[in-house]
Amino acid sequence: MNALQEDIVQLAREKNALILAHFYQTMDIQDIAHVVGDSFEMARRAQVSEQDLIVVCGVRFMAESAKLLNAQKTVLLPAPDAGCPMADMVTPEDVTALRKKHPHATFMCYVNSSAAVKAQCDICCTSSSAVRIAQNLPGDEIVFLPDQNLGQYVARQVPDKRFIFFSGFCPVHHAVLPIHVQAARQAHPEAKVIVHPECRPDVVDIADFVGSTSELLNYVERDTAKSFIIGTEIGVVERLQHRVPDKEVFLLKSGFVCPNMKKTTLQDIYDALQTEHEAIEIDPNVADGARTTLERMVRCRL
Ligand code: 13P
Ligand code: SF4
Repeated sequence: MNALQEDIVQLAREKNALILAHFYQTMDIQDIAHVVGDSFEMARRAQVSEQDLIVVCGVRFMAESAKLLNAQKTVLLPAPDAGCPMADMVTPEDVTALRKKHPHATFMCYVNSSAAVKAQCDICCTSSSAVRIAQNLPGDEIVFLPDQNLGQYVARQVPDKRFIFFSGFCPVHHAVLPIHVQAARQAHPEAKVIVHPECRPDVVDIADFVGSTSELLNYVERDTAKSFIIGTEIGVVERLQHRVPDKEVFLLKSGFVCPNMKKTTLQDIYDALQTEHEAIEIDPNVADGARTTLERMVRCRL
């Protein structure tokens, strides 16, 4: 550990803080986090946290989820401008308009959305919980937003329901095309291709396995293959290089980086702990509705 990492660990102890990090954070941050997880694991860990301070190393919707699920705690986002472009693609007004068009549908929103959008929806999901939640929903019509790709992935696993998709997408995963998969397979013919469900359906179709960040990591650890092409953000590849050094892991395509996830630095985390800034506040007009939507997700997945 370097001096700054040691200072953060010490300060977190003094302040009784819990540091949560997503797998897309840089390794120096993953190394000092108390918990590293996918979106669901981060939300769940925040919900049951007894610490006074929760530091979320990720993007804004993750910090908002932590605050909604454990409102008494102070939740800090060390990089306040770290957003998720996909979350910003859908507005509460979009949901209202869709409700008018589909009055009998259940509205299911990906956790990558604002609190205001969550408040207008019926249930939330993460990539690791979406299929199970959709399978268990009453009714036969689901409006899924904002991610068209995750929506289509879920719809294929739940053929007895009718899905209406919104047009959002993750710019980082949506940029992957089948030609990138073909090129990676040509370069590493022995490797299995595993991708995140935010990838396009034509990419998902030709992958050997599809899963959330956590599920991809577990797959590589448990599978007997020795070599994998990873179709998600580079942070997962870096973690695998540490966790399973005896296996070969290749990034599906160069530049597979989420710029927002990379905004957080160790210095930001230290400063956030020192100053307790930026503490997440949720608009009281939407907090109860958004919390209900998120709590339903957690209950349905546990
Ligand atoms: P996970 O829930 O799989 O970690 O995904 C979060 C995310 O933003 C992927 O782009
Ligand atoms: Fe949002 Fe995509 Fe970055 Fe995930 S990888 S935080 S979906 S922009």
